[in-house]
Amino acid sequence: MLPQEFLYQLKQANPIDAVMGSYVQLIRAGSLLKCQCPFHSEKTPSCVVYTQNNSFYCFGCHAGGDVITFIMKIEGLQYMDAVRMLAERAGMSVPEQEHDNGEANMRMRLLEMNRAAAKYYFENLTGPDKRGLIYLKERALKPEIIRKYGLGYAGEQWDGLLNAMHNLGYTDEELLASNLCSRSRKSGNLYDRFRNRVIFPIFDLRGSVIAFGGRTIEKDGEPKYLNSSDTPVFKKGRNLFSMNFAKKSQSKRLILAEGYMDVIAIHQAGFENVVASLGTALTADQCRLMRQYAEEVVISYDSDAAGQNATVKAVNLLRAVGLRPRILHMHDAKDPDEYIKKFGSAYFRKLLEEADDAVTYELQRCRDGTDAATEDGAITALHKAVSVLAGIENELDRNVYLSKLAKDYEISTEILKAQVEQEIRKRRKNEKKQSWTALKSAPMLPDPVNPEASAKRKEAMAEEQILCYLFRQPDALEDVMKQIRPEDFATELNRRIFQHLADKLRQGYTYDLSLFSDSFTPEEMGRITGIEPTYDEVDITPKAVQDCIRILKEQKLAPSQAADMDNDDWQARMQSLAKRKRS
Ligand code: UTP
Ligand code: MN
Repeated sequence: MLPQEFLYQLKQANPIDAVMGSYVQLIRAGSLLKCQCPFHSEKTPSCVVYTQNNSFYCFGCHAGGDVITFIMKIEGLQYMDAVRMLAERAGMSVPEQEHDNGEANMRMRLLEMNRAAAKYYFENLTGPDKRGLIYLKERALKPEIIRKYGLGYAGEQWDGLLNAMHNLGYTDEELLASNLCSRSRKSGNLYDRFRNRVIFPIFDLRGSVIAFGGRTIEKDGEPKYLNSSDTPVFKKGRNLFSMNFAKKSQSKRLILAEGYMDVIAIHQAGFENVVASLGTALTADQCRLMRQYAEEVVISYDSDAAGQNATVKAVNLLRAVGLRPRILHMHDAKDPDEYIKKFGSAYFRKLLEEADDAVTYELQRCRDGTDAATEDGAITALHKAVSVLAGIENELDRNVYLSKLAKDYEISTEILKAQVEQEIRKRRKNEKKQSWTALKSAPMLPDPVNPEASAKRKEAMAEEQILCYLFRQPDALEDVMKQIRPEDFATELNRRIFQHLADKLRQGYTYDLSLFSDSFTPEEMGRITGIEPTYDEVDITPKAVQDCIRILKEQKLAPSQAADMDNDDWQARMQSLAKRKRS
């Protein structure tokens, strides 16, 4: 398989809408991008283009896949030729085919070494040089939380970690690849990157140590925080600090902070559902990760201007993935860590409860930079506010804000309402929203790709739901694998998908459609890609997965008579699943 990073870059450089748009005419319908399917003949468009994960899926003929599959199908090319064509289009060069094992082994070694390094740093806290421990204590961290986060210390030696890792058999090459050591340009020797710092290990969702952050313990030490750069096991824009703990909290709400210390202070104060981005601005990938676990995110950034600007950006990113942002307001403290130290956790809880919804926050910000006491200022602010209100989908919600705003600006509710409605009509005209329903009720055509599915409709659906659950939450793999093996799958296609997914995840790859595209035919890619859109409306809970597992186990014991489900049954089942989610 080609290196995953290359495939990621290739897809970033070849957005599905741009590539498909050069073959077919794309039509925007509300938030949906569609086209007439180029792979079967049709009059009404039923092929949907998903820019968020760079894939397409036709609800009519089940064609689908990533951008590579698209090129394979439309140009009639083999996998590698399609990759070359896309690389050329983007001016990239295709790397030498790396041996699958080479890349996978390197990842395994790096993860092992990171764990050993974290252990080394942790043990260093209680070594002869106690400055790290003293620093953490001064920052009011309790021993339990230090242990829970596996915090550590790197002293002033240039080769402390280097020697420890050499003794464990790790090579210079591995130490460089992990970004724990750098090579001195003068002497050519390796040296420790982290020195005189307390260490924050960064865990992925499966509990592997994938990177480190280190805060200087010296006054005015530079940089204040040093972070691992990207390595084969770490992409900073795609991970969140403390997500491994936050995902365990049952809350559908996450708290988003700016820094390591804020996260740990908030966690210590009793709120485990807290995360931070890692030394960079928040990314869309990180938002999608949060969306897998939460519905609402309370942004708790620093109270300074930089923090507030970052808040505005975060609000938009979070909304774009369907998360509900709220904004926490702090007074008399620069960040949550300081706030909790000053006022205690009970007050912080109060701040959380009082966090503004994003609309209130945005309406407030409409006045920024204008003097609402003057007529001009008020008019400018009002125009901005009308645009904010027009963006609220729910009419009831909209009216609540509307009357409040009318009161604040001392104008008639009717006039404001008319303005907002005019704005909404204007937007609607541009969008011409079309409902999902029409797409979803496209008739099911017979399926030559998974021939067993029509006779084993119920089992195939159970399998698809298990797969969909794993696509959404790949870290649940080990749990699922404990209960069901590939042999238990009733259809050969789904069995292979499950096996392949399990193999790749166990080798440390991150879930992405392109994990499949070199091992499955374009037709099979269509089925794989179709799974998520098909169950889009369905909330697949761990309990639902249990039911699916039971269905598969039962059929294995007593294979049912070809229990044919026709289209109507199928539709009815989908509807009842969807209803269950809504209720
Ligand atoms: P802050 O400067 O707000 O630090 O940076 P902080 O979290 O309040 O840290 P303390 O309380 O002084 O220890 C916020 C985050 O920005 C990133 C880090 O992730 C930090 O947690 N950062 C900051 C860096 O990556 N490098 C830096 O030099 C500074
Ligand atoms: Mn701070």
